Amino acid sequence: MTPEEFRRAAHEAVDWMADYMTHIRELPVLPRVAPGDLMRALPGSAPEEAESIESILSDFRELIVPANTQWNHPRFHAYFSVSGAPPGILAEMLIATLNVNGMVWKSSPAATELEMVTLGWLREWLGLPGEFFGLIHDTASLSSMHALLAARAMVAPESRVEGTPKGLVVYTSEHAHSSIEKSGIAIGIGQKHVRKVAVGEGYRMRVDALEQMIEEDKAAGLRPCCVCATVGTTSMASVDPVAPLADIARREQMWLHVDAAYGGNFAVLPEMGHLREGWAEADSIVVNPHKGLLTPIDLSVLYTRRPEVMRGALSLVPEYLKTATDGEMANLMDYAVALGRRFRSLKLWFVMRAYGRKGMEAYLRAQLAMARELEGWVRADGRFEVCAPVELSLVCFRLKAGDDASRALMEAVNESGHAFLSHTVLGGRFVIRLAIGNYQTTAEDMRGTWAKVQEEAGRLVG
Ligand SMILES: Cc1ncc(COP(=O)(O)O)c(C=O)c1O
Repeated sequence: MTPEEFRRAAHEAVDWMADYMTHIRELPVLPRVAPGDLMRALPGSAPEEAESIESILSDFRELIVPANTQWNHPRFHAYFSVSGAPPGILAEMLIATLNVNGMVWKSSPAATELEMVTLGWLREWLGLPGEFFGLIHDTASLSSMHALLAARAMVAPESRVEGTPKGLVVYTSEHAHSSIEKSGIAIGIGQKHVRKVAVGEGYRMRVDALEQMIEEDKAAGLRPCCVCATVGTTSMASVDPVAPLADIARREQMWLHVDAAYGGNFAVLPEMGHLREGWAEADSIVVNPHKGLLTPIDLSVLYTRRPEVMRGALSLVPEYLKTATDGEMANLMDYAVALGRRFRSLKLWFVMRAYGRKGMEAYLRAQLAMARELEGWVRADGRFEVCAPVELSLVCFRLKAGDDASRALMEAVNESGHAFLSHTVLGGRFVIRLAIGNYQTTAEDMRGTWAKVQEEAGRLVG
């Protein structure tokens, strides 16, 4: 491809992107495909001869997009609804063009320094003290795995050389995200040593239950290592009581990790200060701007007050990566398992500048307002019940008619293509989750989706 051919094709691609954003509501949120449809439509082997960009773009439009779940759709309400907002999309194009690997400062001074500057800005927006050092990972799962690695290094420094000792224990709520348990599996703590602490009122981790578990484990000769609190649980967005958990962590000399992958984004709002309670005492906090701050997937931020522990756990510098500026400026590879580092900060920098704090706050408030309005509609319809407090931009509800009816309702809405909802189980009962978070979602979209839910409910239960 010559630069001129690239220019023509890029203009065509960008035109497609702008049209996609404009007309996205015309697409079904969930694709109308059966398993294997796309695989059958594509050749089993790559082409021998070069193909034109026109034909590749054409297949992208005709085959790939119709088989895609439209995550950037304003009526995508499953899992956590997210936004790849236009400033971040532009930045993704530039990131690919620069194609840097920011493993050490010298390999891209811009990538290293912009990551530090942008995460400093975000730290201010989140109200975190200046001592928190931030690092970008791809996902919250990997951020939390790094937090557990640091916890292991703090409690059992011998692990780096000897391997994970037996008997380290991690505590998290029974509603914590599965990534905490997976991290325990991955770093050798073992699944059975990731304890699930019972929740109490509002689905918050019970402090007394945690204390009892720790006592029992210590009496059995085990070593409490880490408490993982969640701010905005996946199932129903509940918020664990971080401040008392921080006290326990200090007393027991454990690491305190806060998984605020989703809920932490709302801490940008001054009026949501309760979300930040206890954060200053945490050893690490993960927040995913790709879940709540308009940044295209993937961008997760891990802040830690103890970067030296992270570095001690993971830094390993072979001869070929030594540079003359080592020691003068951070080499971000020293704080992560991965050596390679995409220039992800560029997209967060674009988004933060393009929205500004005020724009970001307005966007977050709009999500919360739409969730509260939806909660009111659910409560006003006698066929439904709200199943968890609506604290953030997630509404959990079900049909009083029961699990089967609720599941059938979710499936009917999803099959209609109008919206995409997901589910969880709370207290043994099937619950529909409707998460709000796309930058294009309007009050009118929400009214339309609720009307669709009511229409399908009418068909199912009258
Ligand atoms: C609370 C929480 N933590 C962690 C994760 C994992 O996120 P990621 O996909 O970035 O690994 C999720 C995903 O929804 C989540 O809700």
